[in-house]
Amino acid sequence: MIKVEALIRPQKLEDVKAALSEIGIKGMTVTEVRGSGKQKGFTQTYRGAEYTVNLLQKVKIEIVVPDSEARTIANAIVEAARTGEIGDGKIFLIPVAEVIRIRTGEDGESAIS
Ligand SMILES: Nc1ncnc2c1ncn2[C@@H]1O[C@H](COP(=O)(O)OP(=O)(O)OP(=O)(O)O)[C@@H](O)[C@H]1O
Ligand SMILES: [Mg+2]
Repeated sequence: MIKVEALIRPQKLEDVKAALSEIGIKGMTVTEVRGSGKQKGFTQTYRGAEYTVNLLQKVKIEIVVPDSEARTIANAIVEAARTGEIGDGKIFLIPVAEVIRIRTGEDGESAIS
């Protein structure tokens, strides 16, 4: 199993949710976070101005799926979240060792389907 962890612009959340719904994704966790990337959180680079890291509001979406679905989901997020400007975000694909559904005790892929 893989955790698809996407950091996106908050204003793209509704578009991404719609795209995920279209491909049948149900389980997800969404968190408001702050972060920075290559530009250290500055949308413009002023000469000599980047002394500090500036943390910008982002939304983190986490979805755990079977390995075979991870790339499709990542591609759907890329398409829905892209503006083409810096700060569009990133997606991390992270291995997940185990999943357990608390209600039933099911584990493995049956706990996420
Ligand atoms: N290396 C990283 N590790 C952890 N989180 C990161 C990393 N890079 C980016 N992020 C997260 O992704 C968010 C969006 O990053 P951002 O889109 O600015 O990435 P970037 O690599 O600078 O790409 P771009 O050049 O398009 O801006 C950040 O606010 C941060 O939450
Ligand atoms: Mg950036």
